[in-house]
Formats: sequence, C-alpha cells, structure tokens
Amino acid sequence: MKIKKREVEDLVFVSYLEEMLQKKKFLKMNRYLQHGNTTCLLHSIAVAYFSYRLCKLLRLNVHEKELIRGALLHDYFLYDWHQKYKPCDDVGRHAFIHPRIALFNARKDFEINGIEEDIIAKHMFPLTFYPPKYRESVVICLVDKMCSIYETFSKCAYKKVTNLVVSDKKERRIVGRRINLYN
Ligand SMILES: [Fe+2]
Ligand SMILES: [Fe+2]
Repeated sequence: MKIKKREVEDLVFVSYLEEMLQKKKFLKMNRYLQHGNTTCLLHSIAVAYFSYRLCKLLRLNVHEKELIRGALLHDYFLYDWHQKYKPCDDVGRHAFIHPRIALFNARKDFEINGIEEDIIAKHMFPLTFYPPKYRESVVICLVDKMCSIYETFSKCAYKKVTNLVVSDKKERRIVGRRINLYN
C-alpha cells in the first residue's frame, strides 16, 4: 500500500500533538471558550495544524516542533475572557495582555524555547507592539487571525480536523467539546 506524503506529514503533526494531549495541564484549555462555541484547546490545535499545513504547502523551512508546540500554547491564558471576572478589566484589554499571560503560564507549566516564546508573545501583532522575530511566529500570527474569523462564524468548526488528528476516542471527546454561552 502506498502511503501519501501528506499522510506521513500528518503523522508527524499527530506525534507532537499526542505528546501534548498526554499532559493534563494542556487539557485545561478545554474549559475555556475562545470564539463562537470553539474552546481554546480546539482553536489552538487548529491554528497549529493549519500553520503546519501552510508551511508544507509553501515549502517553508521552519522548526516544525517549535511551530506546532508554540501554536498549541499560544492561547494558554487559562481564563474565560467572556466572563466578568478575569485578570483584565474588559474584552479590549484581553486582546492586548493575554499573550503575556499565556507566556507566563507556558513558562511555568512547560519547557519552552526562544522560538516558542516568540510565537506566544507576538501572536497578536499588530495589536501588540513588537513584531514576530521568527518565520514560525509570522505564520502563526497570520493563521491565528484566519482561524479566529472562521470560528466566529462557524457552528461546528474543525470537525474534520479533529477526526484527522485525534485518533483516541476519549481525547477526541475532550478536544471536540463545544461551549455554548447561551445555554
Ligand atoms: Fe490569542
Ligand atoms: Fe489564538
């Protein structure tokens, strides 16, 4: 049986994702809503996957492990920014400060290197002042914005992606969780 190049590439992505899904701390992102009814966990997985796929499509020479891990942790801020009680006063401020909170949390809970730190800290550019330093950070900065728009208008975002990259049933249930604020 011939295995397609894309399938092999996806397996590489899945191996890095699986490593993170084993960590309970990483799964905490499943508790918080990002855009639409998509959780921070699913949003981060989608940003990681589409960033990875975009790099493959454009044949960009990137550090794949850092690209994927950085994307998986880029919104590791761990609070619900839609609720009244959060570390910042309002939604507008959340947009500016959450990269720093995510970086603080990621440094505390994981071992991350300079590229991963840059991805997390700069992903909201140009809202945050400093531009991305690495190619990986630029890709995630762009893909994050595309994914955010898609999630805002989608009722059931990334169903196919979830099935493709998460093979374990229990993990798929966790990753596929939806949060409806108005229920
Ligand atoms: Fe973000
Ligand atoms: Fe994001």
